[in-house]
Amino acid sequence: MSETKNLKYVGGDMFSSIPSADAIFFKNVLHNWSDDNVLHILKLCREAIRYVGDDDKKLGKVIIIDMVIDEERDRHEITETKRVFDMLIVDDGFDYRKRKDKG
Ligand SMILES: C[S@@+](CC[C@H](N)C(=O)[O-])C[C@H]1O[C@@H](n2cnc3c(N)ncnc32)[C@H](O)[C@@H]1O
Repeated sequence: MSETKNLKYVGGDMFSSIPSADAIFFKNVLHNWSDDNVLHILKLCREAIRYVGDDDKKLGKVIIIDMVIDEERDRHEITETKRVFDMLIVDDGFDYRKRKDKG
């Protein structure tokens, strides 16, 4: 996908700073970081999201696309594929910890 007037690619370390934006998009990025690291990244996102007006209301969005294992809803083959992917991440020695939906 090419850059446009509304889409810019910005390099850098997401643990150090996240540039100010209307929308911050993570696809297949957060799953292999610990809860503490993800919290750190999301706090930086909260600071980076642009404000609107004077009432401190946030305008922007953080959009996260990542794999979710749902054995009850997914076909068995889909769950199996996700688990293989999961094992590859663990095997790669990432700062990984499985997150469970607490809601
Ligand atoms: C699994 S890849 C996903 C790439 C792409 N979003 C996709 O879905 O194909 C994870 C990405 O996170 C990036 N990444 C890892 N650590 C990072 C960091 N500290 N700051 C910024 N990006 C980082 C890697 O460079 C890599 O591109």
